[in-house]
Amino acid sequence: MDYEALYQAISHRRSVRKYDDTPLTQDALDALKKFISELKPLIPDIRTEIKLLPQSIVKTNAPQSLCIYSEKKDGYRMNAGFLMEQVDLYLSANNIGACWRGGSRPSKGSVEAPAGMVFVITLSFGTPAQEMHRKNVSEFKRNSLNDISPVSDLYHILEPVRLAPSALNKQPWYFGGSADRIVVSRKKHPLIDKMNQVDIGIALCCLWLSLKHQGKEAAFDFTPSPVPGKHIFMANVNVA
Ligand SMILES: Cc1cc2nc3c(=O)[nH]c(=O)nc-3n(C[C@H](O)[C@H](O)[C@H](O)COP(=O)(O)O)c2cc1C
Repeated sequence: MDYEALYQAISHRRSVRKYDDTPLTQDALDALKKFISELKPLIPDIRTEIKLLPQSIVKTNAPQSLCIYSEKKDGYRMNAGFLMEQVDLYLSANNIGACWRGGSRPSKGSVEAPAGMVFVITLSFGTPAQEMHRKNVSEFKRNSLNDISPVSDLYHILEPVRLAPSALNKQPWYFGGSADRIVVSRKKHPLIDKMNQVDIGIALCCLWLSLKHQGKEAAFDFTPSPVPGKHIFMANVNVA
């Protein structure tokens, strides 16, 4: 997997909501399937499966969708976000338009969930019929580093993480702790609690890639650490 290409995609990607009918080439689809088979999980002991489904089954404005199913274990939504953000960045890096779809799932009775798994979320994709890359970081509407972390030693690492996509652009993430052991929590948004768990997985994927870009490795653990009031603990990131 070309981690640096995924890292570079973070600061150019955007949600694509207009597509044309030009199908992706078989080579592009084969490469995507190979990439999906090599994804790195956040929580390796959670079984997942990603299904490639047509517009007739997942009704979005994109010609195709990837739907992730997962075992329902602790952190499964966060794990799904971590996995699918790798795909989101891969698609952007390969000039294929994509958009996360919290509200879209396979139509009733069309697809059976794999045994022991539940549907988690959709990422729709296809040939873009709009500008699909941002030219400049100033085009992102995002919170500032000050808003998302008090740890200024981390700011060079968090700058790309700040740009991660999130449901309704709520950016629920918060990064406390220290530069060696980052404590990740999220703000409570009762109406989109499930999506916010996916959002944290997305941010952790960007954090992992940002650390790699700096020549560092992230080891995740989920033993609860203290977090600010009204926040929910999500993960510790041990940096080496
Ligand atoms: C978990 C999740 C669910 C989302 N659901 C939808 C959706 O149902 N429909 C939609 O148009 N965009 C959806 N989005 C896209 C966000 O609105 C978008 O990422 C955010 O506004 C930031 O814009 P950007 O992706 O262009 O940077 C979703 C994003 C995430 C991460």
